[in-house]
Amino acid sequence: MAVEQTYLMIKPDAVAGGKIGRIISRIEDTGLTIERMELAHLTFEQAAANYAEHEGKPFYDSLIAYIVSGPVVKLLISGEGAVAVCRKLMGATNPAEATPGTIRGDFGLTVDANVMHGSDSVESAEREVAIFFPN
Ligand code: RTP
Ligand code: MG
Repeated sequence: MAVEQTYLMIKPDAVAGGKIGRIISRIEDTGLTIERMELAHLTFEQAAANYAEHEGKPFYDSLIAYIVSGPVVKLLISGEGAVAVCRKLMGATNPAEATPGTIRGDFGLTVDANVMHGSDSVESAEREVAIFFPN
């Protein structure tokens, strides 16, 4: 497997709920490297760029409103197979279907408030890293 970069984001529900530390611990436990980490309040433009693929879907407006509703933690992660490793660590999109032991399975509440975002491919990761860590 190749060394990859991926973009992760701890979503507003998890930041407000005091779960940053426990989530970061799980990321560190994978052995992947945290290259950049920053608490930020996303702009509407950043949110729309990140979720451009979902524009027009029924959940799009609430997804954007939610992701700009409070601070998030932006993370640039690297390592062997980083994209797939992080998607596995996160678990299924809907916390009700996420396996116990995954971040969403253990900390998730609803499909909207599902704790984390993670790039779903190397191509998505390159696009998202450019949005959130342009330099
Ligand atoms: P993310 O992009 O946030 O990492 O999540 P994902 O890849 O697992 O799921 P994706 O299909 O990209 O959906 C993005 C976010 O939209 C919300 N969603 N709601 N109500 C629904 O049917 C629905 N489907 C998706 C979720 O919050 C999901 O994380
Ligand atoms: Mg996605």
